[in-house]
Amino acid sequence: MSGIEIDRRLPEDFFAAALRDDVLKGLTADPKWLPPKWFYDARGSDLFEEITRLPEYYPTRAEREILTTRAPEIAALTRAETLAELGSGSSTKTTLLLDALQAAGTLRRYDPIDVSEAALVASGEQLRRRYPELTIHAVVTDFEERLAIPDSDGPRIVAFLGGTIGNLLPEERSVFLSRVRGGLRPGEWLLLGTDLVKDPATLVAAYDDAAGVTAEFNKNVLRVVDRELAADFDPDDFDHVALWDADAEWIEMRLRARRDLDVRLKELDLTVSFEAGEELRTEISAKFRHEGVQAELATAGFALREWWTDSEGRFGLSLAEAV
Ligand code: SAH
Ligand code: AVI
Repeated sequence: MSGIEIDRRLPEDFFAAALRDDVLKGLTADPKWLPPKWFYDARGSDLFEEITRLPEYYPTRAEREILTTRAPEIAALTRAETLAELGSGSSTKTTLLLDALQAAGTLRRYDPIDVSEAALVASGEQLRRRYPELTIHAVVTDFEERLAIPDSDGPRIVAFLGGTIGNLLPEERSVFLSRVRGGLRPGEWLLLGTDLVKDPATLVAAYDDAAGVTAEFNKNVLRVVDRELAADFDPDDFDHVALWDADAEWIEMRLRARRDLDVRLKELDLTVSFEAGEELRTEISAKFRHEGVQAELATAGFALREWWTDSEGRFGLSLAEAV
């Protein structure tokens, strides 16, 4: 029992069908790729939580620092009754916003929205204990394919934290931001976390930690494909790779085949061959600049009202109003 209402917005077979489509498309492409949303089964969600505690992975701590300082201002400016959160995961940093909105006396409802039901259930139990009176309406959906911001009375703020927007390609980002804008009324709010461009050594270390947790997270997508599509990927056949692409200004995570190999995917009746050294792209994590974020928000119909960074200028938090 999660102690919260879980709203499954997708048809029963949506995830199975979407995974099949993505794997078929991505593994028969040249170069090969897979979308990052498939990292997040229960194990992947736990591994991401472990990543957030690594010494090299600064974004979570940097964003928490900003939220700790600015949450009361966010509550005062927005006077939101509903906080909706896209890609809410463990909702750990969210408690800073919920506490501030509660202290301001406006909060009525929290709508966490995530592709990972496991993450929603786990966080739901903790949130229910901490906020016994709050209406919590969790939505399981894919925010790219089926964006759903529940309607409710009173002003809403949509939070999209952690820099997860950077996991979308630029063209996907602009479609996504326009859809978020389309789901809001003028005068409602978007709170957007973006990791910022910085020296490549810091960036690469954040995605290639000494303890190897990010490598396990990266390889988890192979375990998901094995389980769901009766495939025989051996994660040990691949090396974790994290690269900084200075032109695109993003980190790219890849899995590099250690030897020539064939992988059988029974459910797809497909065999995929890798040459030794061949790489499969599993994630991009774009890094941003203030002007770029402002411009992308404006194109989608948002006016940037506040821009905050942590004390070391590593991470940016934007408060934008739907106009
Ligand atoms: N917001 C949290 C978690 C970030 S991890 C934080 O800042 O720490 C990214 C989260 O987004 C995961 O919980 C993952 O399950 C979710 N996610 C990734 N792609 C998604 C998609 N397409 N639709 C819905 N949720 C998605
Ligand atoms: C969820 N997202 C913002 C993380 C990131 O930093 O791009 C996912 C991640 N990938 C590797 N480490 C963390």
